[in-house]
Amino acid sequence: MIETGDFEIDNRLVTAQETEEDAALEGGLRPTTLAEYIGQDKVKENLAIYIEAAKRREGALDHVLLYGPPGLGKTTLSAIIAREMGVNLRITTGPAIERPGDLAAILTNLSPGDVLFIDEIHRLSRAVEEILYPALEDHAIDIIVGKGPSARSLRVDLPEFTLVGATTRVGQLSAPLRDRFGIVQRLELYAPEQLADIIRRSAQILDIPCTFDGAMELAKRSRGTPRIANRFLKRVRDFADVLGNGEITEAIARTALDRLEVDQLGLDSNDRRMLNMIIKGYGGGPVGLDTLAAALGEEAVTLEDVCEPFLMQLGFLSRTPRGRCATALAYRHMGYPVPANLPESTDPAQMSLLDDPA
Ligand code: ADE
Repeated sequence: MIETGDFEIDNRLVTAQETEEDAALEGGLRPTTLAEYIGQDKVKENLAIYIEAAKRREGALDHVLLYGPPGLGKTTLSAIIAREMGVNLRITTGPAIERPGDLAAILTNLSPGDVLFIDEIHRLSRAVEEILYPALEDHAIDIIVGKGPSARSLRVDLPEFTLVGATTRVGQLSAPLRDRFGIVQRLELYAPEQLADIIRRSAQILDIPCTFDGAMELAKRSRGTPRIANRFLKRVRDFADVLGNGEITEAIARTALDRLEVDQLGLDSNDRRMLNMIIKGYGGGPVGLDTLAAALGEEAVTLEDVCEPFLMQLGFLSRTPRGRCATALAYRHMGYPVPANLPESTDPAQMSLLDDPA
């Protein structure tokens, strides 16, 4: 297996970006079959059908694009796809493939039916993407041999393979690349009940006693993300060992997460800073993402990929064509009086209708 890691390290406890510790921890916690995988029911049901159909035809699965916020299980799903298809998995990331030759080396080493997983596929360079197109469509790559006037293009046949691309930013994928995926699935943030099931499954594997209410308390504060839930489980276990009898109860979970400055809904200090800035700094919005990022000293992509999906799911933030706005719910959660002119629409599903997909 080619493992080409390029994971960003971030010390925020609630970051959904994968840390080295997560990678080690998740290794043993990852479900290995679709049946074991909790949540994402629609994605699972569809994949099960596509996998079964491909197996019956004895062909490779069509190329799959998985997108959605970080930490939801895109890598896990790619490993499950490979396992259910009974083929090898090769893992790399967009930024790790620097030159066309790097990709050519990976592609020519694939065996028939293999799954090639490219994380952060939106970060592939144009030159590398160009190599990928014929590989995806015709199972061949064109290699330039020689230089100058004597340069020749050599076509090299590849085995049939399945590309599984993952991205948090589907809008940044070029249209030709996006169009070459036959299966496109969006992963959603998890409901607290699903996260509680994931936490209880992980606790069992790690041999950590955890009550149902303890798991639910962690789940409610895990911002819809299994990676964060599993990280909390590990941290809160330390509190349970030292402050209690080792069991994660609701009270221990509450104490631990309060100490870690994760509030009852899972907001951390950065989320609260962001809401505070919109409300106090920009009169509740609308305020443009770049303006907000500059005011907070954060990267716009961090706000967009990590803070916003969760704040929008809670119904605390709306994205309008003119910028980001805090909702009545956000004012209330942050302890501010709600302005009289702010609509009381608190249904996140309704508010998403206002979203500007750009
Ligand atoms: N661990 C992390 N994500 C999971 C999921 N979706 N199902 C089961 N265990 C998990």
